[in-house]
Parts: sequence; structure tokens; C-alpha cells
Amino acid sequence: MKSIKELPKLQGAKILVRVDYNVPIANNRIKDIRRITSSFDTINAILKKGGTPILIAHLGDSKATLRPVATFLSKTYKIVFITHDVTDSHIKTIIDQVPKNTVILLENIRHYAGEGKNDAAFAKSLAKLGQYYINDAFSVSHRKHASVVGIPKYLPSFAGVQLQKEITALSSVLDNKKHPFVFILGGAKFETKIPLLKRFTDLADSVVISGAILNSFYKEAGFTVGKSVVEDGFSKPIAALLKNPKVLLPPDCLVLRKGKSVAVTPDEVEPQDVIVDIGPQSIQLISEKIAKAKLVVWNGPTGWYEKGFVKATTELAKACIASKAHTVIGGGDTGAVVEKVLKDKEGKKIFVSTGGGATLDYLANGTLPGITALK
Ligand code: 3PG
Repeated sequence: MKSIKELPKLQGAKILVRVDYNVPIANNRIKDIRRITSSFDTINAILKKGGTPILIAHLGDSKATLRPVATFLSKTYKIVFITHDVTDSHIKTIIDQVPKNTVILLENIRHYAGEGKNDAAFAKSLAKLGQYYINDAFSVSHRKHASVVGIPKYLPSFAGVQLQKEITALSSVLDNKKHPFVFILGGAKFETKIPLLKRFTDLADSVVISGAILNSFYKEAGFTVGKSVVEDGFSKPIAALLKNPKVLLPPDCLVLRKGKSVAVTPDEVEPQDVIVDIGPQSIQLISEKIAKAKLVVWNGPTGWYEKGFVKATTELAKACIASKAHTVIGGGDTGAVVEKVLKDKEGKKIFVSTGGGATLDYLANGTLPGITALK
């Protein structure tokens, strides 16, 4: 895999750069800028070599717009935001007229059906816009999408600065698996995470379930989960995981009951309750495990962080800081919540990955489709 450092002098060349700007946005405000700023080293390296980056990114589903991201980027760079159809034959003329020292951002690439299908004609039409391709989107490199695995078939391709940083940090975990190894899973995105859980029950000594995924585990274990979010269709793998002695179900949870949050055991959850986080007993139990661990891999917040239920996530982050364990925290959302606690603690012992599902996939399989495509 070639590094961005091996790019030749660019002198006006256009460089397609896959970045991940899938960030939380509320009322046009970006609530976590980490994924955006993590691409700046790569953008700056291209500009320094005299090239023009064409940033390709996605945001949420196929309808959302990257306009708030374009506005944010324009505080740092001269930005041209292209909302025009990228498959239109005129687009290359427009792009070629963009002046030097400008950064081009394309509208949400998931507006195009060809992206998710990894359509060859779509990948080719994107590749025609530039002379080189860089993947700097570790966090979406688990997707076999056109802008991740399709374009590198047609252009000389390189790994960006953030992609390399992630690979270095995560491969050191893989090369050096220490025990006790505690794996904590939170957040949602069942489809991506449930298939990887089996692998983590093989790798780790304890597997802690939290976040929205916990509701489905409680339900499968026979508890009432009230009005909590559950995703159906995973009953079989969850039933199998529940039989595994390494899987730890938090002994208590926090529920929203008549507008107040109350800590209860899972058998005390009532039909009108909504589970919003794990409870104090669980925080204590998991913190003790973290204190004894040599390796902690944690992915996804334990609670409904969008509604402010961040206590357990914050406490567990403090436990990671206090522990001697090598800690990898993944999941864009988790990073946003623990950022305030970690402050300057990130470094050799604690690594916060920009990836969510991608981080798990990498740790489970040792590579990702987007990385293999660069080789
Ligand atoms: C993420 O947020 O994990 C990445 O941007 C990938 O997003 P996706 O799960 O919608 O493909």
C-alpha cells in the first residue's frame, strides 16, 4: 500500500480523496468536528504539492446534504461545493476551471444509487475527474462502495494520513493482544455489529453489552423492555451469545419513567419505561473489570447520548484513564462523548478511533475492503 508521502509533485493535478464527514448535525450545527479536522493533514499535504483535492464524502442516508460541512470547511479553505450531478459530462470542465489552492467538496455521494451498489460505471465516472485517488476515510473502509473500493481500480491510489494513523494504532493492538481483554459494545447499528460479536467472544475475556443493542439482549433473555428501541431479526445470534459465559449483561439499567430517570434491575422494567443507559451497579462492575484489564476495546456509547444520558459513558472513560490497560475507543459518537473526559489523555495508552463499525471490523478481520483495494 502506497503512502500519501509517495505522491509525486502534483502541479495542478486533481486528487480524489475519500473522507468520512458522516458527523452529527443538529439545526445546521456540526456537533462533532473530529472526523472533519482529522482530514486536514491530507488536504494540506495535497495543497502543498500543488494539487487540488476533490473531497468525496457521505452523510447519513441518501437525502442529507453536506452543505453545513462545506460551510465549516470554508472557515479554513477556499471551498467549491459541487451539487451538480457528478456523472454529467460537463462536470469535468467545471472542475478543471477551479483555481489553484481551492478545495472541492462533492455533495453527499450516497445521493447516487451507484455508490452503495459499487457500480463499475459510476466508479469510472468518478475516477475520470482526477489523476490520483487517496483513501483517508478509515471509518467507512468496511463498506464495499464505489468511492471506497471502486475508484482505486482505475487510478494510482494512496493511503491518507488519518487512514495510516488508524492502521498503525489498531495493528499494534492486533500484534500485541494482551489479557485480560475487556470488550465493551454500545451504540446501535445492529446489522454491522452483531455479526462481529461472535469474533470478539473468541478474542476477548469479557464482552460487555450496552447501548441500544442491550435492549434486544434483555428482550431475548425474557425481560420486558417497555418502549425501548429494539431491532428485530437478530434473535438467533443473540440467543447463542447469551449462552456464552464471557457475555456480561449489565445487572441494572436506567429507565425513563414518567419524565424521571430511575435505576432498576432488568426484571423491574415496566411496560411504559424506556431504557436510556446502564445503571450504577453496572458502572461499578464494568469499572472493576477495566481496572484489572490489560486491553480494553470499547465501541459505542452505553446510553442514549443524544438525549444527554452520558453518565455511564463518562464514568467508564474515567475508569479507562485510571486503568493501566491499553485502550481503543471507537465509534464517532463515543469519541464525541468521551472527548471532554479524555482531554490530553489521548496518546500511546488511549487511542480514539474515528471508526465505529470499521474499527470492529478491522480488529476482527485484520483488514478492511477499502484497505485491500489500495494494495
Ligand atoms: C460511520 O459513521 O460509522 C461511517 O461513516 C459509516 O457509516 P454507515 O454505517 O452509514 O455506512
